[in-house]
Amino acid sequence: MPSHSPRNMLVTGGAGFIGSAYVRLALADPRLERLTVLDKLTYAGNRANLDGVAGDPRFHFVQGDIADPAAVRTCLTGIDTVVNFAAETHVDRSIQDASSFVLTDVYGLHILLEASRSAGVERILHVSTDEVYGHVEHGSSSEDDCLLPRSPYAASKAGGDLLARAYFVTHGLPVVITRGSNTFGPRQYPEKLMPLFITNALDGLPVPVYGDGLQIREWISVDDHCRGIHTALTLGVPGNIYNVGSGHARTNLEVTLRILDLCGRGPDLIQHVEDRKAHDRRYSIDCTKLMSLGWHPERGLEPALAETVAWYKENQNWWRPLRGRADFVEHYQRTYKGTSTQ
Ligand code: NAD
Ligand code: DAU
Repeated sequence: MPSHSPRNMLVTGGAGFIGSAYVRLALADPRLERLTVLDKLTYAGNRANLDGVAGDPRFHFVQGDIADPAAVRTCLTGIDTVVNFAAETHVDRSIQDASSFVLTDVYGLHILLEASRSAGVERILHVSTDEVYGHVEHGSSSEDDCLLPRSPYAASKAGGDLLARAYFVTHGLPVVITRGSNTFGPRQYPEKLMPLFITNALDGLPVPVYGDGLQIREWISVDDHCRGIHTALTLGVPGNIYNVGSGHARTNLEVTLRILDLCGRGPDLIQHVEDRKAHDRRYSIDCTKLMSLGWHPERGLEPALAETVAWYKENQNWWRPLRGRADFVEHYQRTYKGTSTQ
């Protein structure tokens, strides 16, 4: 299979955590002629995430919704490559209200796939997640395992993932899908475990561990995840799915203790709170298929976590305004039953 070389890209959801890191990676290639970000700027989208590339003459930003056919059609003019990060992404929010998840992660993706078909794009990569497999007690999920999602977030991502594959099978749309594991690094909205616990710990606030904290996640640095996505985009075969993980499996308690230590705090800040509904106990993915394309995770968990903590220490002007916003405070109080964010 010849490699695919993007020249004019559309990156949807590119103002979010992983999408913005991917935009920086893609623009580092001088052969790329133009890159447009289409992002709705939901609570999780942040123009500041793209500050470093705003001056690049190849970079363009459009605020818009992937579920809006006219906006998507306009953005696709001249595009040869689409990478879709746009999604509602937080499991706890999907448990509280799943509507926006179905609208973006399933219906929005449908609009993007249809428009990409009409525009005749050469390659479209859809970013999916290891959560579509559901939790796995033993062993690791491989790409042809059945999907057994258990949260509304995971179910909406599984719906999108299956729809994307169906567009390859039915219409021959050149779709590649990646299923990544728990990702961490700079610029992650402070509702997910790592940025929430780091920013709480820096302020001496308790860190709310769900249940016994013995759930296991496979933690991958955002740089390794983005390189994995780019490898699948450029070297992967349309119609194929590629897992993107790290092999770094840790319990939430192990991760929490390490974060507290890196923030100069002790275990006394741990507060065991009511467990998440239908909390998946363990994820683990087999990444042999992506590795056969030459990719492998490069970042050790320890150094990447230490760098991440250092980034949040040094970039308080990035996260303090987010934690002060009404949507963050409301989400926090709803999820942690009235606990204060200060
Ligand atoms: P994020 O929540 O930080 O960012 C999502 C971005 O999508 C935001 O910029 C938001 O404004 C935008 N967006 C939301 N709805 C939109 C819409 N309708 N139209 C256009 N833009 C919209 O998410 P993230 O953590 O960067 O995740 C990116 C992708 O990677 C998602 O598809 C997610 O399912 C997947 N993923 C995430 C992880 C992880 O651990 N964070 C792991 C595996 C896969
Ligand atoms: O596995 C990939 C997925 O990883 C992505 O598809 C999702 O978009 C991303 O949000 C993430 O999902 P998780 O639910 O695993 O991530 P989160 O950071 O919300 O939680 C990680 C673990 O920590 C999980 O077992 C729940 C637990 N947790 C989380 C929060 C926010 C806590 O114990 N306390 C908390 O306050």
